[in-house]
Amino acid sequence: MSGKATLGGLDLGTNTSVLQMNGPKDGANGPCVIHRTVVGYAKDGILPGVLPDGRATFYGEEAIANRLYLDLAWPVVDGFVKEIDATRDFLKFLRSGVPTDGEFRCVIGCPAKSSLDEQTVIRRAAAGVFDKVFVAPEPFLSALGARDEARVGKPGYIDPVKNSLFIDIGAGTSDLCIIQGYYPRKEDQIRLTDAGNRLDEVLIDAARRTYPDVRLSPHSVTSIKEANSFVGTPPGPVKVDVMVMGKARTVDLSDAMRQACETLINRIIDAAASLIEQSNPEGVEEMLQNIIVTGGGSQIRQLGPYIAARLGQKGFGSVKVHCVQDYKALVAAGAVKMAPRVKEENWQIPLT
Ligand SMILES: Nc1ncnc2c1ncn2[C@@H]1O[C@H](COP(=O)(O)OP(=O)(O)OP(=O)(O)O)[C@@H](O)[C@H]1O
Ligand SMILES: [Mg+2]
Repeated sequence: MSGKATLGGLDLGTNTSVLQMNGPKDGANGPCVIHRTVVGYAKDGILPGVLPDGRATFYGEEAIANRLYLDLAWPVVDGFVKEIDATRDFLKFLRSGVPTDGEFRCVIGCPAKSSLDEQTVIRRAAAGVFDKVFVAPEPFLSALGARDEARVGKPGYIDPVKNSLFIDIGAGTSDLCIIQGYYPRKEDQIRLTDAGNRLDEVLIDAARRTYPDVRLSPHSVTSIKEANSFVGTPPGPVKVDVMVMGKARTVDLSDAMRQACETLINRIIDAAASLIEQSNPEGVEEMLQNIIVTGGGSQIRQLGPYIAARLGQKGFGSVKVHCVQDYKALVAAGAVKMAPRVKEENWQIPLT
């Protein structure tokens, strides 16, 4: 038990991070902050007055808005902390956005299949930010976050913590994980680096093949993808206004979008099929009714029916796929639900 400490749950994502505080009753009902995982440091030689308030460091969306004058550091790459100092700065910024008093303990998500070394880096980054931490696998936290306690035990509800297949399509990694009531083992999980960032690269290449003179910037391609992504039958044409040599032009990216999205999703479906094939046959039928897709990639249009149909074609019979709408806070919500259940001896002191 964690006594009177303030409890939080953290999803430190490649793209977006969420810090969720425990509410008065245990659960994900306290204050919550969500920011892009990026820190911007003022470039050398920036003239006074160019950056707001003459500040030298910016975080999240504010760093992106001022990116012309900043060196941007993305602390998390492919799901893992790569820059400890920038991560620590970013975590302090997140913490400053929530009211905390006294000791602060935080459950922090780590990607599926993280090694002990990778978890140690998270503990280092947390030094000076949190008093105690507990690092737990993100897919398990997603399942806990998705669990609807009011429906557990009711007819027709399959508790995601008891039996589900989670597919988290993030920016850096896609994590697939079978959850069957215990902490997932290595063989229950697959981590792919085919995810949102890779989809952006494939989309840029696919667009360039159709329109060789059109150059999409990384920033614009992400917005185009988020507004128009789809798999299966096109829900409508993807017509996009782009600048070519300073002149506005409209291009049709329907084929490029479909190709790029389906390339990513077909890889994820192959990985899902191999996990299902190796899973315990006792629980497989129920699990196929409880495939839950989360992360930003879950917002790709027509994704659920597409995955169900493709798995059906692979011989898995009737499959139900649920794409989570409020995916952003899921891992952090699970983390904060877990926090009161972490035994005193399992809380760890961040490493300096
Ligand atoms: N409508 C959409 N269609 C396709 N992709 C989307 C959509 N909305 C967001 N994304 C993508 O989802 C990704 C971000 O997802 P998410 O916030 O789950 O990532 P993350 O948790 O920061 O990353 P990771 O889990 O890999 O560390 C980005 O690549 C973003 O462009
Ligand atoms: Mg994530």
